[in-house]
This record gives sequence, structure tokens and C-alpha cells, in this order.
Amino acid sequence: MKKVIVGGNWKMNKTVPEAQALARQLCDRLSDVNFADIFICPPFVDIYSLSIILREKESKIILGAQNMHYEAKGAFTGEISADMIKSAGGKIVVLGHSERRHIFNENDEYINRKVRAALDAGLLPLLCIGELLEEREAGKTEEVIRTQLKGSLDGIKIEDPSKILIAYEPVWAIGTGVTATPEQAQDAQKFVRKILAEMFDENIANEIRILYGGSVKPANAASLIVQPDVDGLFVGGASLDAESFEKIVRDAIK
Ligand code: PGA
Repeated sequence: MKKVIVGGNWKMNKTVPEAQALARQLCDRLSDVNFADIFICPPFVDIYSLSIILREKESKIILGAQNMHYEAKGAFTGEISADMIKSAGGKIVVLGHSERRHIFNENDEYINRKVRAALDAGLLPLLCIGELLEEREAGKTEEVIRTQLKGSLDGIKIEDPSKILIAYEPVWAIGTGVTATPEQAQDAQKFVRKILAEMFDENIANEIRILYGGSVKPANAASLIVQPDVDGLFVGGASLDAESFEKIVRDAIK
């Protein structure tokens, strides 16, 4: 049985003191939770100080980054490498988030390089995929999922299913308040698993944890997580408040 995983994507929110306060609250509120892996992805500038807070609090919450560059170091002004994230205390890195794809024009080939670099560095990549509203309405959801998975993971061997996480995040559901229905999430994530089985093998595909993201709230977390192919939840807006994130985590029971 796979352990459920719930993550918070803080995006470009919280000053340093605000991020530290939220991290402390989460440590206190979630200290007894063993049934789920929990991670938070604050802005880069918070990772190091939050790693110290989590250690002081003896918290099991895992730290992640929201992005990285694929090069190890050098003249890439404004970028952060996998080793920098690791040395600051990050263990997970979100790659290919729809905001990176659509606002910053990242394509599958570029994301593929990042996934490789994260794996090489020993970070756990959380690869995000998902279709736009017009793609869903044109009946292209599966085609988009296939293209993004095959492109972002092209040439990458996954022999250990615990080395990668996938998040299905329909773009029309992100930050809109419109959540995919549990059936829509299940259908898409079952299809994700089918493509993973084609690319790797059935055992690996069954074991890779696939998260759902897109307007996850305390009100809908329980109905999403019970879907057979929803192994976790990736939460944006509702992760910025300790009470609502705690509620989502506590509802994340299969
Ligand atoms: P949201 O964001 O929960 O605010 O819709 C989800 C995400 O972007 O990961």
C-alpha cells in the first residue's frame, strides 16, 4: 500500500517572517500525523531557515523547492541549482508546474533536462502535467497528458518508483476555485498510470505516486483522495493557511 502524500505549493507568497510563522504552525498542528507524507514548497529564500525550524521542531514535514535550473552552476543569473536546493535542506523539487509552462514558456524538452538534473542530484522531482480548458473541451486531455509525460520523461529510466512523483493538475482548475470532479481526476490519473506503464512497466507505474492538484480545499480533499489512482494532493491557495492545510492533510485518508 502506497503512503498518501500531501504537499503545499506556496508559490510567490509569504515574506520570510510569515513563512517561518506558517512553518511553525504546521509543525505543531501536524506533529502526530503518520498516515501521510507531508511536504511544503516555500519560495527559495525560505528553504534554509525553514529547514532549521523543521529540525528544531523534530518535524517529519519535507521541504521542497518550486523550480530549479538544470545546470549545476555558472552564469545563469537568477537561477538556482539542484545542489543549492539540497544544501539548503530541500528534498523535493516541483518541475513543469503549469505556471512555469504557461507564464515562463517552459516546454517538455526543457523540463526533461530539469528532471534529469534533479534525479542525478538525488532530489525527488514532482513532475506536473495537465491540460488547458480549451484542450479539454476539444477532447485532447489524453493527448496532452501523453505528450507531456513522454516529452518530460523522454530517455529517463525509472527503476525505483519512489524516485519520482507526478502531479496531474488540470490548468483550468488551478487557482480558479473550479476543482476537477473526483471522476475527472480519477479518469485522467488512471490514464497517466497507463502511459507510465507503457513507458516503464506495470509494477513501476502502479507504485509511482500520482497527486491531484487544482483548487484542492478542505471541502473536496476527502472525495478526491479516495479515488483509486489519486495517491496524494498538491495544494496551492489552501496551503497558505495552517488550519485549512491541516484539514486537508487530516482528510487525506484512503
Ligand atoms: P491551487 O493551486 O490549489 O491554488 O489551485 C494548485 C497548484 O498550482 O499546485
